[in-house]
Amino acid sequence: MKFVRAITLALMTSSAAAALAPCALAADAGASVADARAERTLKQLTLDERFDLIRGYMPFLLPPAEQPKGVIFGAGYVKGAPRLGVPPLIESDASLGVANMASVMRRDDVATALPSGAAMAATWDPALVERAGAMIGAEARAKGFNVLLAGGVNLVREPRNGRNFEYLGEDPLLAGTLGGHAIRGVQSARIISTIKHFALNAQETGRMVLSANLDEAALRESDLLAFEIGVEIGQPGAVMCAYNQVNGVYACENSFLLNDVLRRDWGYKGFVMSDWGAVHSPSIRAGLDQQSGTQASDKPYFGAMLRAELAAGRVTEADIDQAARRILRTIYASGVADHPVKMGLPIDYAAHGEVAQAVAEAGIVLLKNDGGLLPIAASAKRILVVGAHADVGVVSGGGSSQVNPVGGAALALSPPGEPVWRKKLYAPSSPLLALREVLPQAAIAYDDGSDPQRAAAAARDADLVVVFAEQFTTEGKDVPDLNLPDNQDALITAVAAANPRTAVVLETGGPVLMPWLDKVGAVLEAWYPGQRGGQAIARILTGAANPSGRLAITFPATIEQTPNPKLPGADIAVGKSELDLYDLPDDRKHFPVGYPEGADVGYRWYDRTRARPLFAFGHGLSYTHFAYRDLAVSGGTGLRVAFQVANVGARAGTETAQVYARVNGVKRLVGWSRVDLKPGETRQVSVTADPRLLAAFDVKRRSWHVAAGVYTVEVSAAADRPILAGKARLAERRIRP
Ligand code: BGC
Repeated sequence: MKFVRAITLALMTSSAAAALAPCALAADAGASVADARAERTLKQLTLDERFDLIRGYMPFLLPPAEQPKGVIFGAGYVKGAPRLGVPPLIESDASLGVANMASVMRRDDVATALPSGAAMAATWDPALVERAGAMIGAEARAKGFNVLLAGGVNLVREPRNGRNFEYLGEDPLLAGTLGGHAIRGVQSARIISTIKHFALNAQETGRMVLSANLDEAALRESDLLAFEIGVEIGQPGAVMCAYNQVNGVYACENSFLLNDVLRRDWGYKGFVMSDWGAVHSPSIRAGLDQQSGTQASDKPYFGAMLRAELAAGRVTEADIDQAARRILRTIYASGVADHPVKMGLPIDYAAHGEVAQAVAEAGIVLLKNDGGLLPIAASAKRILVVGAHADVGVVSGGGSSQVNPVGGAALALSPPGEPVWRKKLYAPSSPLLALREVLPQAAIAYDDGSDPQRAAAAARDADLVVVFAEQFTTEGKDVPDLNLPDNQDALITAVAAANPRTAVVLETGGPVLMPWLDKVGAVLEAWYPGQRGGQAIARILTGAANPSGRLAITFPATIEQTPNPKLPGADIAVGKSELDLYDLPDDRKHFPVGYPEGADVGYRWYDRTRARPLFAFGHGLSYTHFAYRDLAVSGGTGLRVAFQVANVGARAGTETAQVYARVNGVKRLVGWSRVDLKPGETRQVSVTADPRLLAAFDVKRRSWHVAAGVYTVEVSAAADRPILAGKARLAERRIRP
């Protein structure tokens, strides 16, 4: 395990560091062409070349002679077979923009930083998320990357998970749909996107050793369904298997997940790559095709060890061929071979910044707004802005998804003991400066919030106070609790006591507790709002943009309401680096994580336990008001729901009408519609439910089963705010996965 530590150390200290038509990777006629080409190429590859395809490296850790030339170093590099026109795979992380760990260290390569996944999810807008994906794809292509490690659709089960900011919320339909569209956008640039981390990588504590245990039916109805939908919509060229074990077997050697579910049941034709350091055996037969970031593993599993397996006859050349064939097929089907990427093409960062701002504006959620405190009134002449470095920028999440923003980070802090890839970076988009720009008539002062009493004194005479509060979260580490860190609760409490006309803007990875909630007038959840977050926040605060985001994650009222009030593994893992856990005895390190909620993730759990969260899934206010009427529900072999939504307020606004059905007594989101409405305008909305959401997964018969019966349907403005209700009788149905 010393080797792995050496790599980590190297990562901590290393200083090294065209508009094209969309293409579907599997479903079109091009697919069989890709298969035939893969077959032809495979026949010409030597065994060494096939091994070169099934193994990836971290380029910055290769000896200089083996490093790829003329490329930006990203997370991964696969040699390819240039002799036969098979390009090397140049890989970068990319869920939130073209990330580049090496360049975060070097700071000489920048990219458009999108808002976090939690913000994207809060848009509930597949078309916008696809546009964001296309923006990332175009930027990646212009930088010379042809594989993007994007598409994180792990469901938010654990509110303390340090990576919740990368994911798309707690609901399988929402996460799968948005993830699929993000992938479709990325791949429209004729490059490969992953979907990740397959599966049940729901917390960072002990992620490399824990066993996530969930029975098959619950797994199929929740986390796997998000992947299933994401794969259907996005047709990703690759699936990245996760670090953790699932039901006692590492995800990257889990034949049930990779061979049975992904390939047999879903008909997936792309390839499976491992997460970096997630391989623990040369078990190519379990369905893994490519070991990524070889240097992150303690042994050359898909190198010398697999060769030894071959020599011993435990693995055949046909097994190696199958993996190489899947990789080749994806290379051809994606367009990566026929439309080679080239480093150094111009990028329209101004246009891409607009995309980042559009996502931020659509994803910011107005959680509370008493007495119309927001939008900021024209009469507000003296405004005080407090805290969270709002004078320079907006915070972002740490880890492999970290993007070095255009313009360079406004501020880069290194929390004590953190490796360089977990830096706390601020995108150069100051909410304070943006507010001053849109409110030239107001005097806007700033207090850094470091002294609550000083901030409270300054707040006293202001017409309005806007307190910014932040929660930095990062890959590799969960937050210990849901409180805002660094005494910020005390800061907000002191300021609100001095001036009740206080609005709070949260920049958090996921949900936080708000002990001061009833003392403040308004709360805006801005997540990590990205490259143009400051401008987006200012436009929402002033009403230039009407808030339209809706929570894709429940905000609990207390940690006791959540399925696992005690973070699983916290006693073993807290204070330890994730890699240190390898040194623990097996019976301790492979600690089990159970999920009392089963398939009832997030709002379903709150529904089942009748708990009232602080803010429900789907919640979000607007500066206008909406009314619903004329519900029509029809059943039979499918569930269709139609109704009207009207804007009954005085401003243009966007409503996200949500449709839930009760299945076995618990509500499930079965569809939604995001509707833009002018004042006084009414629109007809109709939603057809995906039958899998009305079904239970029948493990014995390996099929989805919709039980015959009467189903309750609710049209809602949030999971806890049904507005119209109806019933439909559904016929029994079985659907093969
Ligand atoms: C993360 C992946 C990422 C990979 C490469 C891993 O630590 O879990 O999401 O794609 O690193 O950077």
